[in-house]
Amino acid sequence: MASVEIKKDIFWVGAIDWAVRDFHGYETPRGTTYNNYLIIDDDITLIDTVKEDFADVTIKNIKSLVSPESIKNVVINHIENDHVTSIDRIMALTPNATIYITEKGRKGLARFFDISNWNIKTVKTGDTLKIGKRTLLFLETPMLHWPDSMVTYLKEEKLLFSQDAFGQHLASAVRFDDEFITCASMYELDDAVIDYYANILMPFGQLIKAKIAEIQKLGIEIDMIAPDHGIIWRSHPNKILQMYLDMANGVAKEGVTIIYDTMWHSTELMTTPLMQGIKDEGLECKIIKLRATPMSVAVKEFWKYRGALFGSPTLNNTMFPTVAQILYHLSGLRPKNRIVGAFGSYGWGGGAVKEAYEFLKKMGLELYEPGLQINYKPSLEDETRCYDFGRDFAKKVKEYHQKFQS
Ligand code: FEO
Repeated sequence: MASVEIKKDIFWVGAIDWAVRDFHGYETPRGTTYNNYLIIDDDITLIDTVKEDFADVTIKNIKSLVSPESIKNVVINHIENDHVTSIDRIMALTPNATIYITEKGRKGLARFFDISNWNIKTVKTGDTLKIGKRTLLFLETPMLHWPDSMVTYLKEEKLLFSQDAFGQHLASAVRFDDEFITCASMYELDDAVIDYYANILMPFGQLIKAKIAEIQKLGIEIDMIAPDHGIIWRSHPNKILQMYLDMANGVAKEGVTIIYDTMWHSTELMTTPLMQGIKDEGLECKIIKLRATPMSVAVKEFWKYRGALFGSPTLNNTMFPTVAQILYHLSGLRPKNRIVGAFGSYGWGGGAVKEAYEFLKKMGLELYEPGLQINYKPSLEDETRCYDFGRDFAKKVKEYHQKFQS
């Protein structure tokens, strides 16, 4: 895809990765894009680069606009591999350009590349760079989501180059939110935003709130947000800011995700009466079988709803491996403001439900106890127990959800 003008003399020069399905273990069924941007002003400025596999694509896009040796400034907003691994190709074409990066970014860059011959200026929050008619303002965003991260604001255009924040893993032939909504839907776009936030940014909710407050305190007006992945927010920049604030504040749907795995279908048979009980309390319910679902999708669905029930058969006195895996993964994502419980089946000794609660307790989530265990295959009486468990859990979800209603 050729370059795309996003504002006068400011161009998207990135690459679309239609084929990627595994992004460091994160399932990306919609592919992704690596967005970088070229500002044509007195000093031509490149904001970010792309994953090394796509270096030729961005160089071609840049060459369609300017000669690469005319680039004076290269801003590196963060040094994760998908955005920085073609910097050596860019610097080979414009060896006198100056890189603008945070101090932590400079140190990290030196671990990936020989930077001894590159001009590098480190920047911190509040530093500016005049590039002609326009001015760049740098704003550090440490741990959003790497230690070196920053965002770059183009003052005169009210344009925020936000690196990963506000992005989505979404390959598309269109570049803007309004175009995407027209050719697909707002639901699909929102789903991609939630997916990205849940899998990448969930641990950083408090930092996100603080950074958005800092941006507002600085009086920064935002007319467009250009992230490093997915579509550019030109029609709904306030909507995406509000979505991030909502997620950071613990907003979730009043509903339940049942996340389970099964050996010989006994735990699986428990899910239908559980769901019926939840539904009869008036709550939405989604069922996720782990062996049939990518981990990142299960994380997204967990994150969407206020309540979650984890179901596991007992194997060797412990949880089934896929259930242990998602609980371990979720503990690293540090979810908050969710109420959780566990259920499962066992043949002789049991142990999975007890172990699931130990994990959930360590995560500091609101616990619904005790869990529900059935022996071998659920009987009709057991199905009633499941229904009642689901119904009672749904009541607790509704009560807990009230805490988040203003
Ligand atoms: Fe898209 Fe943090 O890299």
